[in-house]
Amino acid sequence: MSLGKAARSLVSPARGLLRAPAARRTYSAVADARAVLENELESIRAAGTWKAERIITSKQGPRINVDGSRGNILNFCANNYLGLSSHPDVVQAGIDALKLYGAGLSSVRFICGTQDLHKNLEQKLAEFHEREDCILYASCFDANAGLFEVLLGPDDAVLSDELNHASIIDGIRLCRAKRLRYKHMDLSDLETKLKESQSSRMRLVVTDGVFSMDGDVAPLQGICDLAEQYGAMVFIDECHATGFLGPRGRGTDELLGVMDRVHIVNSTLGKALGGAAGGYTVGPKPLIDLLRQRARPYLFSNSLPPPVVACATRAVELLLASNEISQSMTAKTMRCHFRCILVSPKETLSIMPIHLTRAKLYTA
Ligand SMILES: Cc1ncc(COP(=O)(O)O)c(C=O)c1O
Repeated sequence: MSLGKAARSLVSPARGLLRAPAARRTYSAVADARAVLENELESIRAAGTWKAERIITSKQGPRINVDGSRGNILNFCANNYLGLSSHPDVVQAGIDALKLYGAGLSSVRFICGTQDLHKNLEQKLAEFHEREDCILYASCFDANAGLFEVLLGPDDAVLSDELNHASIIDGIRLCRAKRLRYKHMDLSDLETKLKESQSSRMRLVVTDGVFSMDGDVAPLQGICDLAEQYGAMVFIDECHATGFLGPRGRGTDELLGVMDRVHIVNSTLGKALGGAAGGYTVGPKPLIDLLRQRARPYLFSNSLPPPVVACATRAVELLLASNEISQSMTAKTMRCHFRCILVSPKETLSIMPIHLTRAKLYTA
């Protein structure tokens, strides 16, 4: 036997022996994790809050085809507020951009992922919202994850409505500012919290413009009055308002006449503005400049794909060119609201919650 062979025969069984306990350990760790996960899944099923996904086999729209169902299904639950996700001009813009600019940039924005398409959309969104500048993200979830950490430090305070969207809550968790949660749309509680945080360097009041679950419209006039009285800035998340609230569809701030009193707006391209994907912040130029330098979801995540950018750009162009599309939505929801008044007595404009008595009924 050669020395090499002898050595291998000695080493192999030894390695085999060594490997077996390691493999057993790994197996047992996975088995343990599997049991923990199965328990967790079972508790969700038992609570009746399991979320089953229906598989759509057509375009998004008011009537869709769903795997396992025959014929068209009426769809009341997408956020395709203006029907633009399958608008022929929007779809064509995506096809043209795919041919001209390719599928994607394979890069983050600051390395080599910014095209003229991205700059053009940012400029159009800033124009649409009548703000100084705009920065695009892969989603509004990312826009909310990026903003607070960059803007607010330990000497600052953030005052947030208790029912704000999950992405705002997560974004605020990432920042080191003092956190104060005020009761839902409660101006007197907000004032108490503003008084409590008087010593902070900067203060930011944070609210959804329209709350995604109940469709409540934030009392922005009162919020702006208080913010001005106590020297705070105002931020709104406009995912459920951009494109259709207000006479020109600019959002909740336009509806309530406070466009020049709300300082920062985050919104999505994934609902009324074509429905593909993407989010953004509009606001003062120094803030947008700083976000480009420091916002982690912007710096460390891929650029929005050109077809997605082109679809959103076309959607924004349609809204900038005429108010007709935004207004048609208002007319439809008012008609629908009138019909649904018995199930939804609240004054809502785009979201009509239908409350069932038990959680299990929602998933039935
Ligand atoms: C109020 C609100 N903010 C942020 C988001 C996140 O938007 P995006 O889908 O662009 O990540 C949503 C999405 O459901 C939302 O409803």
